[in-house]
Amino acid sequence: MATPTYTLNDGSTLPAIGFGTYPLRGEEGVTAVIGALEAGYRLLDTAVNYDNEREVGEAIRRAGVDRDELRVVSKLPGRHHAYVDAIASVHGSLERLGLDYLDLHLIHWPNPSVGRYPDAWRALVALREQGLIRSIGVSNFSEEHLRRVVDDSGVTPAVNQIELHPYFPQAPMRAVNEALGIRTESWSPLGKRQAPFTEAPVVAAAEKYGVTPGQVILRWHVELGAIPIPKSATPERQRQNLDVFGFSLTEAEVEAISGLGRSDGRLFGGDPDTHEEQ
Ligand SMILES: NC(=O)c1ccc[n+]([C@@H]2O[C@H](COP(=O)([O-])OP(=O)(O)OC[C@H]3O[C@@H](n4cnc5c(N)ncnc54)[C@H](OP(=O)(O)O)[C@@H]3O)[C@@H](O)[C@H]2O)c1
Repeated sequence: MATPTYTLNDGSTLPAIGFGTYPLRGEEGVTAVIGALEAGYRLLDTAVNYDNEREVGEAIRRAGVDRDELRVVSKLPGRHHAYVDAIASVHGSLERLGLDYLDLHLIHWPNPSVGRYPDAWRALVALREQGLIRSIGVSNFSEEHLRRVVDDSGVTPAVNQIELHPYFPQAPMRAVNEALGIRTESWSPLGKRQAPFTEAPVVAAAEKYGVTPGQVILRWHVELGAIPIPKSATPERQRQNLDVFGFSLTEAEVEAISGLGRSDGRLFGGDPDTHEEQ
């Protein structure tokens, strides 16, 4: 079944599911990304800090997918937040990817104690005006960080990519994004190393619809209106993870899965200033 798309607040479109590329590198990484494109993914998520923009660009060229169909997303690292550094950083991403423009570029983390994310945002606004980036967004931003860049620049991010999975369902932050007209993207959508594949509401829905637990969790993101970007180096999982548009969950099933949220469910437990950027 074809992947539906969302229209963002700037009029651009993004598929309802994407492919995460961390930590795919080297020839194996190129092969995995080509596999994802052949399986039908059209949204690829990379970052300067993943050190794999060259591999993602190589996979795009080898897979021969029409550029207009693709949505390539990269991210600006914390060390490049100063205005001139941010401009140079995006040129570097384009050069490594071998592309003329990025579909979406995100500020990877706000790094609030450094406090230069508003400068980074102004640089992304300028690059969008020059046509080097089609859409601009952020990642790991709180309500305060979002309001600061909107007040400062008058430009609302198109996307906020946040940690989101059944153990960390992020209802308050999703509501903030929605109120501001910002599309939520979900990182570690399966919960990475603590995936809730054996939890009762996930297993029950998987049995009922004849799908895998992973498909139930990814469909839960779709029901929430958030864009999951699962990573898999396994062709069969890549295919399954994309195949979540042939069934739907009831409201009660969505609520039961959201009910798995727990206070220690967050994968990233550190301070936003001392995080590992992934
Ligand atoms: N913005 C940020 O700060 C941030 C932070 C973290 C991640 N991200 C992005 O989000 C993407 C996804 O997050 P993630 O890689 O941390 O976590 P994830 O996608 O939730 O989980 C990936 C793990 O799950 C396994 N897996 C995938 N599909 C599966 C399935 N159907 N059944 C069982 N296991 C499955 C994968 O193994 P195999 O490869 O062996 O299949 C891999 O070990 C990253 O690749 C990156 O692009 C962004």
